[in-house]
Amino acid sequence: MRRLLTRTATAVGILVLLVALGVVAKAWFDSRLPDSYSAMEFGTLDFGGASATDHGSHHMVSLQTLRGPRTEPDFRATLVAKEANVRLASGRTLSAWTFNGQVPGPELRVHQGDVVEVTLANEDIEDGVTIHWHGVDVPNAEDGVAGVTQDAVMPGERHTYRFRADQVGTFWYHSHQVSSKQVRRGLYGAFIIEPQAQPRPKQLEAVALVHDFSGRTAIGSYDGVQRRPVPAGSPLRLRLVNTNNSTERLYVAGTAFRVLAIDGTELNGPTPVRDKRLVLGGGARYDVGFRMPEHSVKLAVDGSPTALVLEAGPTDDRIRATETAVEDFDPLGYGSPKPTPLATTADFDRTFALKIGKRIGFVNGRPGFHWSVNGKLFPETPMYVVRRGDLVKMRIVNSSGTVHPMHLHGHHLLVLSRDGKKNTGSPWWVDTLDVFPDEEYEVAFRADNPGIWMDHCHNLPHARDGLTMHLAYERIATPFRLGDGPHNHPE
Ligand code: C2O
Ligand code: CU
Repeated sequence: MRRLLTRTATAVGILVLLVALGVVAKAWFDSRLPDSYSAMEFGTLDFGGASATDHGSHHMVSLQTLRGPRTEPDFRATLVAKEANVRLASGRTLSAWTFNGQVPGPELRVHQGDVVEVTLANEDIEDGVTIHWHGVDVPNAEDGVAGVTQDAVMPGERHTYRFRADQVGTFWYHSHQVSSKQVRRGLYGAFIIEPQAQPRPKQLEAVALVHDFSGRTAIGSYDGVQRRPVPAGSPLRLRLVNTNNSTERLYVAGTAFRVLAIDGTELNGPTPVRDKRLVLGGGARYDVGFRMPEHSVKLAVDGSPTALVLEAGPTDDRIRATETAVEDFDPLGYGSPKPTPLATTADFDRTFALKIGKRIGFVNGRPGFHWSVNGKLFPETPMYVVRRGDLVKMRIVNSSGTVHPMHLHGHHLLVLSRDGKKNTGSPWWVDTLDVFPDEEYEVAFRADNPGIWMDHCHNLPHARDGLTMHLAYERIATPFRLGDGPHNHPE
């Protein structure tokens, strides 16, 4: 009798184990991505509370029709992607992936209203390359996302981007093919759009692209201390760009300054700031301004000896402010309010949730504790669907225990509130919003740029590991495909 019971128990145990194994095997099998797939075939469709009328009907328009102007360009450049040995200021040599043989790539500087034409030529980057204009709300077909808005440009091939530079501000460009690897290896550069009328007296400028070259922080190509003379009394604009995956804390020591712009949008009524660290999430930009004092000013990167020292005189190295500051600068409530084109008290046409968490499961056959969005793993992360003209609200909640710089392509988001606290200061527009653990943001945007747009974490390895989703406009389709077959891997 007892033996029979034991046998039955064993049999049941084995059966349960087999069923469990079967379930896990199926989950593994189902999670594997096909060799070639469309961004439109996956994702959890989310209409944000609006009716689902048109999406996926057959009156679809290819995003390839959403291109920049064909008129004679005002600005023309060619960027050649190639491998090169690059020497940093310290003398250290890197084997890098470059645009035109240099890291960062050439600074592209245009004027507002310019028709920009940039030709990308891939000399020898095996995986292929693209160029994404980070923060520039270009027409969708010019957005440079491999497998969504174009095919990766393979060695020997070329691709031309055209768009009108409508915004003013500090932006950057980078490859959006295997970006978690290619940006780190050097395929990026600054993209500056100047206003048509220059301020007088003409402002001096320094562009500081902060980048980590295998554990060594550089500002531009300077790892270590770079010194630059600046005449005392001159107005100066520092354009800070974080090209890294993680948050960087930057100090401006030796002077009070104003935060003039965030992510390329000017702030209204910025007041003087002192002894505060600027917190830039991966991909973010801050412009700060001050009048050069009679002594040096130092831009330093937290946790690194790398710095840019602006010297008022050749022998002057007095830096007054402490670098061991103090507190983080908070844009929420900074500056003064001003009406925006978004009437944010109005009814929203759609409201979306973007809740970041972690979950056990498989992503493309890889078991692990993966990033999830609204409880789902990639590629079942959201496909937010909007209609042109919609006023959209998005609630971003981070319950994942890790900071995520969330980046939506093609649009700028107006920050409404953080943790329930409304923004009472200058309108704060972002294209990349660093969301810390347990934070909750409400943001709004106008759906005014039709296309299929990536929305992802700009900690690019996170994006590669599944923290990627899309925003799609009704009736817009992509002819491009993702996967190993077409060699398109935007993350
Ligand atoms: Cu700067 Cu989708 O990236
Ligand atoms: Cu992330």
